[in-house]
Amino acid sequence: MVRKKLIAGNWKMNCLSAEGSALAKDVATAVKNNKFDCDFLVCPPFTLLTTVKKCLRGSKISLGAQDVHFADKGAHTGDISSLMLKDLGCSHVIIGHSERRVDHFETDELVNKKAVAAHNTGIVTVICIGETGEQRDNGETIKVCESQIMGSVPDDATAKNTVIAYEPIWAIGTGKTPTAADVEEVHAAIRKTLAKKLGKATANKMRILYGGSVKPNNAAELLSLPDVDGALIGGASLKAEDFINIAKNACK
Ligand code: PGA
Repeated sequence: MVRKKLIAGNWKMNCLSAEGSALAKDVATAVKNNKFDCDFLVCPPFTLLTTVKKCLRGSKISLGAQDVHFADKGAHTGDISSLMLKDLGCSHVIIGHSERRVDHFETDELVNKKAVAAHNTGIVTVICIGETGEQRDNGETIKVCESQIMGSVPDDATAKNTVIAYEPIWAIGTGKTPTAADVEEVHAAIRKTLAKKLGKATANKMRILYGGSVKPNNAAELLSLPDVDGALIGGASLKAEDFINIAKNACK
């Protein structure tokens, strides 16, 4: 099964207008000037979606948000709906990132509801899962990931409307990564769980990204693993050169 790799940048709560435009333009230019055999996605903060959309015009880079509310509209102060994201030109949204699960107490059930809302609007979801350091030390990684997949991924998920991102929480922003063998073991287990939930055909086509301290120097090894179909990149997505070098090293 050939799954085209997805190189996705999660800018998190970073960049004001000038910095965000410069970064988006640099990435767009580099993607245009190179022949990459992969798809690209950038997910700036809500405040920069319109600006970045303009900077990406004419490029093949997709635009995504970092969260969405499950309702279409209404009395939800401070929230953003999938219709609003669509209106701004977003094709993707990250849902259930561990930073939202921790900072905003998001549960698998809520993540699932948000994903359904996004799918109903025609937005592709990047659903994040991953274990804490403590869970890893207790040998619970696969059990935790299975349970998050069963709870967070909605029944309407297809290989077209859903991407999974496996992000061990202890690897995010720390410079630490699991061994390649550990990453492959977890990704294979995730695919098996997806097959149980959605059927083998869908599971075989669905992209499973790895996230957590992906850098230009470890991208080639991590992204060459059979069940790793791309990367969700935080820190290194804030430097155009690093983001592009990850693609160069991993998507030849
Ligand atoms: P990192 O973040 O690349 O800075 O570790 C990844 C993520 O949280 O998506």
